[in-house]
Amino acid sequence: MTKLGTKQKLLAKKPSSLSGILSVPGDKSISHRAIVLSMIAHETTRIFNFLDSTDTNKSLSAAIQLGIECEKKGELLKVRGKGLYGLKPPEQELFFGNSGTSMRLFMGVLSAQKFSSTLAGDSSLNSRPMERVAIPLRNMGACIEMEEDHAPVQIYPSEQIIGCKQKLKVPSAQVKSAILLAALYANSKTILKTDWITRNHTELMLEFFGCPINHNDKEVIIKYGEIKGRNALTIPGDFSSAAFLILATLLAKNSQIIIKDVGLNPTRTGFIKILQMMGGDITTTIDPNSSFEIQGTIKVRSSVLRGITVPNNLVSLSIDELPLVCLAAACAQGITTIRNASELRFKESDRITAMVALLSKLSIEVKELKDGLVINGGVITGGEIDSFGDHRIAMVALIASACSKSEILVHNTENINTSFPNFVETVNHLGMDIINPDH
Ligand code: S3P
Repeated sequence: MTKLGTKQKLLAKKPSSLSGILSVPGDKSISHRAIVLSMIAHETTRIFNFLDSTDTNKSLSAAIQLGIECEKKGELLKVRGKGLYGLKPPEQELFFGNSGTSMRLFMGVLSAQKFSSTLAGDSSLNSRPMERVAIPLRNMGACIEMEEDHAPVQIYPSEQIIGCKQKLKVPSAQVKSAILLAALYANSKTILKTDWITRNHTELMLEFFGCPINHNDKEVIIKYGEIKGRNALTIPGDFSSAAFLILATLLAKNSQIIIKDVGLNPTRTGFIKILQMMGGDITTTIDPNSSFEIQGTIKVRSSVLRGITVPNNLVSLSIDELPLVCLAAACAQGITTIRNASELRFKESDRITAMVALLSKLSIEVKELKDGLVINGGVITGGEIDSFGDHRIAMVALIASACSKSEILVHNTENINTSFPNFVETVNHLGMDIINPDH
């Protein structure tokens, strides 16, 4: 495997065509949730296809610091849950690196414990908003302190977590999930109303673990109480990782790939709908034996894309794929508009500014809006790109080589390891040409 070291550069050359049948590593969001729920469940859960990445391993280390026995054997991860009240106080601060999902999910669980904890991250994570999680948790009785919206986050024991009715103030599955996790410890039921559809992995997994929960697009009602263990839990391939392969194939000439065993939860696959509206030849088949998460096969063929106005209702369903939509727009005929996407400014980098910089460097006309971008499709030249330390920006820049006129050199690519550690090998196996120029 190509090891991505500190400040690593990667150089991508235009491939001739892409082809292959493959699967992608386990889903990052579901892997985090699998650790968190298994650790507070009774009994042992055997997790298959856990994503072995630096982000998900931060959730794993935090569980271990909280006294949970975890055993990794090849494809299998065993987590010996200790129930809602079996965690032990951590001896040191919990360090979550670049992983926003870890920090926010653990805030939900830790705010209901009878001990204090400190949660910190790297410079990117410590600059991301955390009050959006703390405020609804405080409404439930949690004691959380931080300076100016940012980690380190200090959590103190709370007297009682109170079940109440709240409305989600931001379109964020992480915030929703933190509330649902705290709700397990509440003295009565919790009702959470929402105006947005965001990924529902926490709801589905809570259901799978036998928790009394009702959920639809507008509200989640969850009853407090212990959750059972699950003997076995299998994590589907990560749709967000598959999305890079999908776009590379659409953009490259004479290409066709098939991606198997990938998550097709409709709260994640807005990207397919957007790309199909742009003219992308993408078909999906759902596996009839899907477990608690829908999974299946995606077939993609090279396509000529046209610009569109991205429908508002698809924005939260494709939030992590919007940088890829920007790249698709850059290679499409005509203008593409993305609005209502200001959440992009709060990711591992400000992804609106990052994509404006990336596309401008590649000679594409792009206008930055407060809540989105307007992109005029054209011809992508080569160039040198900074990823801003953001894994998805680094991978988008490398995928741009599928249709660029010349080479693209991407700086600061080591964080690809946070979500897709074998990205380079996987795309090269399909026919891409990405190398570490220093090796
Ligand atoms: C995630 C939710 C999304 C997404 C992130 C993972 C999750 O973030 O961007 O990569 O696992 O719940 P928000 O909850 O901030 O929207």
